[in-house]
Amino acid sequence: MSSIRFDQKTVVITGAGGGLGRAYAIEFARRGARVVVNDLGGSGSGDGQSSAAADAVVEEIKALGGEAVANYDSVEEGEKIIQTAMDNFGRVDVVINNAGILRDSSFAKMSDQDWDLIQRVHLKGAYSVTKAAWPIMRKQNFGRIIFTASAAGIYGNFGQANYSAAKLGLYGLTQTLAIEGAKNNIRANCIAPIAGSRLTETIMSPAVVEALKPEAVAALVVSLCAQECEENGSLFETGAGWTAKIRWERSQGVVLEGEDAVDADKVADSLARIGDFEGADHPASIEDTFKPVMSRIGMDQAKPEPQKA
Ligand code: NAI
Repeated sequence: MSSIRFDQKTVVITGAGGGLGRAYAIEFARRGARVVVNDLGGSGSGDGQSSAAADAVVEEIKALGGEAVANYDSVEEGEKIIQTAMDNFGRVDVVINNAGILRDSSFAKMSDQDWDLIQRVHLKGAYSVTKAAWPIMRKQNFGRIIFTASAAGIYGNFGQANYSAAKLGLYGLTQTLAIEGAKNNIRANCIAPIAGSRLTETIMSPAVVEALKPEAVAALVVSLCAQECEENGSLFETGAGWTAKIRWERSQGVVLEGEDAVDADKVADSLARIGDFEGADHPASIEDTFKPVMSRIGMDQAKPEPQKA
């Protein structure tokens, strides 16, 4: 059996002062990585800040004989977090975008502030940290990036309109960075974890929180960041030792033929057939969307123009 190692590699983990991030930090350090333990140290809803959470995990790693430094900036200031890695270790090989908070309320009652803060921490934060690491990874021709989605983003969840929008947005980001980073050996993957933590202890019983160990999620995250791992642009659900992969499924669809074919009444009459998944396929690229549309206008060979780097 192979043993995944991260010797000489630097791993930046956001929100690593507790919960899942702490478990990742310890596992990466155990496998030889130098770890930047980022954590703002605020509450589960994003109020306040403290250095205590990040410091405690750094001490834990050092006590195990590992190497780690703390960073207390918000993920909204990604440059500073990546600078901590460069100042202390001179490189960045892996970025785990994990920091997160909740501001749950029904959509009817949701304030603009609660919407904005969730987008800033989850989506803008992951963008900001990754954007700062990106040129470094491109230059060294190596990078592994993890984004953290959620089942709430994939399936929706009552009271989490802000959070689910940000979380599925992170999967969109993952897929595009997987394409743009491929030629520089940068791989981006996305996980939707389930684990006991302070974010889930309000909705899970203490026994379930205790049983759903963050360490089980860390196993997937660490494996996706291995030098040898070719996985790219994927979305996984994982928890308690169970890991599954998600992909898009598309029905064969319906073509409306004839003079006034594109007509709302006809589409309405066809909805059941449009949603029939018998013989469905699994599109994996934007070209897979262009194909059926272009063939309708007799331009099967037309492809979207690739953008310059
Ligand atoms: P947690 O609350 O234990 O950990 C999140 C950490 O992020 C905290 O230590 C917090 O201080 C830090 N943080 C919050 N805002 C920050 C900011 N602006 N800058 C830097 N650090 C910040 O929660 P947990 O469960 O470990 O969550 C980790 C990630 O996993 C989050 O993105 C969460 O949305 C996601 N997630 C967790 C699930 C679970 O079952 N625990 C389910 C689905 C997603």
